[in-house]
Amino acid sequence: MAHRSPLVVAGLETRDGESQTSDDDDEIDLENLKLNDNSTWKSSYSSSSGMIWSSIPHRPTKIDSSNDTIGKTDLTNITEDISSVEDAFMCFMPKIILEKILIYPNLEFTQKNASNERTEKITIMELKAFIGLLLLAGLLGKSKKDLKCLWRRSPLKSPIFKATMSRGRFQNIISCLRFDDTKTREERKQTDKFARLNVSRHKMVSVTTNAGIQMPRLIYGTAWKKERTKDLVIKAFLTGFRGVDTACQPKHYQEELVGEAVSILQSQYNIDRRDIFIQTKFTSVDGQDPNRIPYDPKANLADQVRQSFARSLQNLRTDYIDSLVLHGPERTHDKTMIVWRVCEEFCAEGKVKQLGISNLYDLQRLQQLWNDSKVKPSVIQNRFYADSGYDDGIRRFCREKNIFYQSFWTLTANPHLLNSSLFKKLASSRNGTTEQVLFRLLMDLGLTPLTGTTNEQHMKQDLDVLNWKSFSPDEVKQFEALLK
Ligand SMILES: NC(=O)c1ccc[n+]([C@@H]2O[C@H](COP(=O)([O-])OP(=O)(O)OC[C@H]3O[C@@H](n4cnc5c(N)ncnc54)[C@H](OP(=O)(O)O)[C@@H]3O)[C@@H](O)[C@H]2O)c1
Repeated sequence: MAHRSPLVVAGLETRDGESQTSDDDDEIDLENLKLNDNSTWKSSYSSSSGMIWSSIPHRPTKIDSSNDTIGKTDLTNITEDISSVEDAFMCFMPKIILEKILIYPNLEFTQKNASNERTEKITIMELKAFIGLLLLAGLLGKSKKDLKCLWRRSPLKSPIFKATMSRGRFQNIISCLRFDDTKTREERKQTDKFARLNVSRHKMVSVTTNAGIQMPRLIYGTAWKKERTKDLVIKAFLTGFRGVDTACQPKHYQEELVGEAVSILQSQYNIDRRDIFIQTKFTSVDGQDPNRIPYDPKANLADQVRQSFARSLQNLRTDYIDSLVLHGPERTHDKTMIVWRVCEEFCAEGKVKQLGISNLYDLQRLQQLWNDSKVKPSVIQNRFYADSGYDDGIRRFCREKNIFYQSFWTLTANPHLLNSSLFKKLASSRNGTTEQVLFRLLMDLGLTPLTGTTNEQHMKQDLDVLNWKSFSPDEVKQFEALLK
């Protein structure tokens, strides 16, 4: 066993009956860690639990007045009370906030550890450490699940937490510091006002469909990406997308490469499957490349759907699909209903969370589907273009029934909108592009557009729109006038 520096608390791992670090965990040689030549490491805090946390780089004060013409002393005065990293932290995270944040996790912590009287509650210092780790994970674009990895192997080459607390305590605390999730949110709102903050964030980035599930407002489309599919999906998710659209249609989609990407996102980037919204489609024989039909075209229609769905699950390496969409209506309503009924079975079995339909431009047929279905359509995915009158009637029906309208061809079909004086004015008012303006206006109308951009800069811009505030009712009206 490697020699431990005094910074690591002796005996802490066993003190609370928590686990000993296992042999495969690397030890960290803190004595040899240096920030730079004029930094030394100084332990600064000893919590009541006996844990020592925080290695504060102590920099000797340098006084260099040779070029000091703009009054560094004035600036120093402003910050004279700040002598440590902790003081600086307290400037933007005062103690009272930390105490409030800790109320709920400590309630949960106490309940979970009720049988062990000796387990101490989470301290403010530990909370600060976790916030630091969350910030680090955020900076590195990682999900909160990555925290465990950061504990063991930090990108800074020093597994920060491992040096400071046992794995058991780390895991114990992290399980209570889940700030929120959709299941517990309503319950938490009763006792924890911070739960509401996450509700607001969720509303910005996702919608709740009529099936009661969260669907991202902006979904990453994977058509025509061929062998680039896997890398682009990974890039999209690391940039911030949380929804992906594909189809069991090898002619246009590489569903199996989406599956590879989804698997890598889970295993290598610790993005939870529950945080990945997967939408795929059943494409009937008419829409398939005759040489690459992913099911037996001679089977009856219901079996074709079953085989296609089984292939989708296999391709996407998952046991459930968030959203299953009919790529188009069948030639007759009765046939559409044969397909729909099979999809309803998948819902009943818990293998699909919601259903939708695509390329349906006839309001009456949508109404028929609505009336005849047991599981109502949650989404319609259509080309958003002038030739269909921008689906005005269909969109009205969708609003009534809380069906979400997913637009495609959004940018490609609408250069006239993008070049209009209204869009140019709105883009300059937001310091953005006309493409971003169109995505935001559609969201303001309640649509959930798809984007299949292959460009990282565009991915960021498209996602950035989620953080824009809505356009004013008057601006939205002016946009709607352009759709007439
Ligand atoms: N159900 C169906 O029948 C059907 C049909 C078509 C599509 N879809 C789905 O919809 C997805 C999206 O397809 P789409 O037809 O809307 O086209 P798209 O693949 O999103 O491409 C639109 C064009 O917009 C550009 N673009 C994207 N963001 C931009 C930005 N911020 N600024 C400037 N240019 C930007 C892209 O160029 P860059 O790549 O250079 O950014 C691309 O040339 C597909 O991947 C698929 O999942 C479904």
